Amino acid sequence: LKLTPFKNEPFTDFSLPENKKAYEDALAKVRATLGRTYPLVIGGKRMETKETIASTNPAKHSEVVGYTAKATKEDAEYALEVAWKAWEDWKTWSMDARARILVKAAAILRRRKHEFSALMSLEAGKSWAEADADTAEAIDFLEYYARQSMKYAVPGETHDFPHEENRLHHIPIGVGVSISPWNFPFAIFTGMLAAPIVVGNCVIAKPAEDTGVIAAWVVDVMLEAGLPEGVLAFLPGLGEEVGDYLVKHPKTRFVTFTGSRQVGLMINENAAKVQPGQKWLKRVVLEMGGKDALIVDETADLDEAATAAVQSAFGFAGQKCSAMSRLIVVDEVHDALIEKVVEKTKALKVGSGEENANVTPLVNAESFEKVARYIEIGKTEGKLLAGGNVDNSVGHFVEPTIFDDVEPGAKVSQDEIFGPVVAVIRAKNFDEALKIANGTEYGLTGGVFTKKRERIERARTEFEVGNLYINRKITGALVGVQPFGGFNMSGTDSKAGGPNYLEYFLQLKTVAERY
Ligand code: SER
Repeated sequence: LKLTPFKNEPFTDFSLPENKKAYEDALAKVRATLGRTYPLVIGGKRMETKETIASTNPAKHSEVVGYTAKATKEDAEYALEVAWKAWEDWKTWSMDARARILVKAAAILRRRKHEFSALMSLEAGKSWAEADADTAEAIDFLEYYARQSMKYAVPGETHDFPHEENRLHHIPIGVGVSISPWNFPFAIFTGMLAAPIVVGNCVIAKPAEDTGVIAAWVVDVMLEAGLPEGVLAFLPGLGEEVGDYLVKHPKTRFVTFTGSRQVGLMINENAAKVQPGQKWLKRVVLEMGGKDALIVDETADLDEAATAAVQSAFGFAGQKCSAMSRLIVVDEVHDALIEKVVEKTKALKVGSGEENANVTPLVNAESFEKVARYIEIGKTEGKLLAGGNVDNSVGHFVEPTIFDDVEPGAKVSQDEIFGPVVAVIRAKNFDEALKIANGTEYGLTGGVFTKKRERIERARTEFEVGNLYINRKITGALVGVQPFGGFNMSGTDSKAGGPNYLEYFLQLKTVAERY
């Protein structure tokens, strides 16, 4: 496969009038599609289901973006059967031929990028820049995994041995299920299906219930790009029903999941139990939550630190597993930093993704209620400095909220809230700050603002996170640049967008022939 070297998809500059106009046109185009029903896709065939799942606009919950089919266990069983049949052929395709389909899909998406982003503004409530970044990441995953797959097209190197030919082959493992989240409904959905597929596996994709429409659009593009029918099934449904059924099924070879810690742990446990008739140990790739901290010490550039804190905490209303939810500040600069952070926070506009507000709504009523509950808890655990108000009369809106002087062990300092809520924790010095930062079960992202070289070096080794950021924001990992995934209860540290990710979906076969 002859391709130019990988380059991240550039972000759109919406200050240019032509880009602004293109986005507004895309929003109008997507608005004209609202209310459609998206069936299951199994073996390339579209199948309506008796029941459907409504996907609504988080900024206006009375507005239906679309309906997806709601798969049953029988549909899941059928999808597995069809996918295993398709695998017999798909596994024999050359890596080049498979990779070309990803590159083609990326090209189609690039041409329609604002439409996909606009759909996310309506279905997930993303602001323009947040949606545009999600789209760029989806394209990146396709382009990056297409190129990474080339490493496995030829046998791996082994040492020579006299009179023998020794080879190390990478072979696909079979049919698996991908259970993806609503917070990066395009990028993560796409990455989680493209990676296993490009190296010769078949995938049953179960999108998040809140964002099934964008997932249906992606599946259409994969088929348009030439993916053989049967390699990818689109199986929207309830997690506790079809998700659970597929995870436990003896014919499921791998499970890849991004979502909450609670569901991730259940998947880990259920997938570990060998079922009657099962001949393998299931591969499990988990990306779970975070309680991500940014440390600011007394040497830091406070303006830069405040900007990074606000971006990391409130981008997409804090609904990123990478979002900053703890701001750990060394006493000496606490007041000066917090003043800047609060000022910047109060300047943020709460509103819909469609109107490109800074702090957009929470995805659904359940999230809204959970975050509202934590805000009440926060009021008893810290001093409310900004926000604190919630309103779900029209959409699921929550003000960006900051609690000061929270104890490191408080609930709002320990539990993943998944909303625009920050706990500010004071530390005597950098040492104590680092200890507090490491004092959670999670270990996904973390950051340090400091000018002291020895502290940067200490953070490099002692800060227990999968993605550490120094003197910058802690969100927005770029595919191929910052492979993404966490330690401890944040998951299997599988590093999506990293050079080893495809190996989760391959098995190695050593073949030795003596001549
Ligand atoms: N990869 C995203 C980020 O880095 C989170 O899922 O922000």
